[in-house]
Amino acid sequence: MTVTRLIFLGPPGAGKGTQAKQLSTFCHVPHISTGDILRAAVAEGTELGKKAQFYMDAGELVPDDLILDLIRERLSAADAASGWILDGFPRNVEQAAFLDTILDTMGQPYDCVVNLDVPDEVIVARLALRGQQEGRSDDAEAVIRNRLEVYRQRTEPLIEFYRNRQQLVSVDGNQPIETVTAELKKIVQI
Ligand code: AP5
Repeated sequence: MTVTRLIFLGPPGAGKGTQAKQLSTFCHVPHISTGDILRAAVAEGTELGKKAQFYMDAGELVPDDLILDLIRERLSAADAASGWILDGFPRNVEQAAFLDTILDTMGQPYDCVVNLDVPDEVIVARLALRGQQEGRSDDAEAVIRNRLEVYRQRTEPLIEFYRNRQQLVSVDGNQPIETVTAELKKIVQI
């Protein structure tokens, strides 16, 4: 059997997006990234994008009232009926509780939560490099440091939240991309 409903946790730059893309192809389920959805909204200049940009540029979380309906709709879409890989959601305890409620209503429990572990200095180096190469506006060093701080305060408590439910698996994300992917493939093939 292959896991079809998986949540990625981990600090900014841990490799969630990189690995979620690989696993999405491997497991034949959509990769749902709230960061990607928000960046597309900013690029398109939608109402959501206009409201979200201020928070994203500062490395702060976008308020829950802008995120929760968006994720409910995305998880209800036809292509998500048989599974998904969530990357960047949930980001705080309130979002995790909301996710529990909607998955309960839909009768679609998640199978597994993967935490990608990467030391801060590796993260700062990775994101600063991406900032130079791709010009992502929240990859400036001061914003990266704030994203890490926000992660510690708001998102890291989710590790305990999911560990208490015995659904958390930790993977060392400070290894070559292919090595991390190989470990993850073993985890999803239960
Ligand atoms: P989001 O897009 O989710 O940003 P993030 O969590 O900061 O994630 P990143 O995309 O920077 O990191 P990643 O872990 O996905 O790593 P990646 O694979 O890209 O969110 C952006 C913003 O949107 C937030 O700050 C917030 O404002 C808002 N937002 C999003 N979701 C929200 C929510 N639910 N609630 C409220 N606000 C929300 O890799 C990073 C780099 O490292 C790449 O260059 C990659 O090539 C490289 N890399 C990856 N793996 C390796 C490896 N093993 N070795 C060497 N390099 C690697």
